[in-house]
Amino acid sequence: MTERIYNFSAGPAILPVEVLEKAKSELLSLNGIGMSVMEISHRSKHFEPILEGATSGIRELLNIPDNYQILFLQGGASLQFSMIPLNFLPENETADYVVTGAWGKKALKEAKKCGNASVIFSIAEEGFKSVPTQDELTFSEDANYIHYTSNETIEGVEFKYDLDGSGIPVVCDMSSNILSKPIDLEKYALIYAGAQKNIGPSGVTLVIIRDDLIEKVPDAQHSMFDYRALAANNSMLNTPNTWGIYIINLVCEHLKKHGGLAEMEKKNEEKAQILYNAIDSSDGFYRGHADKAARSLMNVTFRLPSEELEKQFAAEAAAQELDGLKGHRSVGGIRASIYNAFPRKGVEALVDFMKDFAQKNG
Ligand SMILES: Cc1ncc(COP(=O)(O)O)c(C=O)c1O
Repeated sequence: MTERIYNFSAGPAILPVEVLEKAKSELLSLNGIGMSVMEISHRSKHFEPILEGATSGIRELLNIPDNYQILFLQGGASLQFSMIPLNFLPENETADYVVTGAWGKKALKEAKKCGNASVIFSIAEEGFKSVPTQDELTFSEDANYIHYTSNETIEGVEFKYDLDGSGIPVVCDMSSNILSKPIDLEKYALIYAGAQKNIGPSGVTLVIIRDDLIEKVPDAQHSMFDYRALAANNSMLNTPNTWGIYIINLVCEHLKKHGGLAEMEKKNEEKAQILYNAIDSSDGFYRGHADKAARSLMNVTFRLPSEELEKQFAAEAAAQELDGLKGHRSVGGIRASIYNAFPRKGVEALVDFMKDFAQKNG
């Protein structure tokens, strides 16, 4: 195997080596059929068990009851920013948006094009450092749904609880922390996630939607925006991303084999703790962006004393095979994305580098 480096990219992100090895071994001939998964019909008997495996894998890992449909769509999480209001937020009706970062803001922008998207929580002025507690949220009485982002990938702030909508359907963008820990799935009416962090490659979007929400899809909806039609056709209203679904199936098998989401959560907490400890014990050389209570287990964001030092940090780290640490272009700083597949050893290597860097430049 070619030597692999430590990849801190926010997404597309690191995948389990075991999954990549398996895909490599089957690349030319899937199960001895003489064709790769990318070369066969999505309606063939060879693809059927793959779609079934990915669906049942997600269902098992997240403990999803039968009254939820699992869809593998295209257009990224970004298309869901539009598809959700196009289906559930008619003109003159209301949906509540909890905005805790850049992605929530984008979702809000699209919803405003459809109906009354009401911002019930936002702290943009302070640079999106925290998330509200459940008690801080008051929902609009007539809200069709509540939308929030469980982990803001750019700022590195994460909800530590599953939001309770008090009967209003809860819609959640879980792109960057899905499968990182067990969740109370039945609190949600719709969950969506771009696959390219914890689930698989880019180009597939996982949507988990409850049947009663599907019933609210307008009759005249365009077919490709129509959750009812997409569910009725088992995500195959058009040609799905077969390669992406294949990798998702392998990732699910991998997660099940390695203890499921409870085990992932334990490992993720340990990894994040190592990194946050290094920040907190640096005598202020490194400053965490997020408030402690909202610190993300997936995207650890921090600043150095100057932008020049941040640039130097990212460049020197990359030269030592610690790649992808530059913060998002919109906020700067450093961001270490440490998703499920990211090894603890890589976090320890980063901490060693941080200590060394602070000593030389502090
Ligand atoms: C939380 C979150 N939401 C949405 C998106 C957009 O995803 P996509 O590029 O699949 O549209 C991202 C991408 O990184 C994200 O992190």
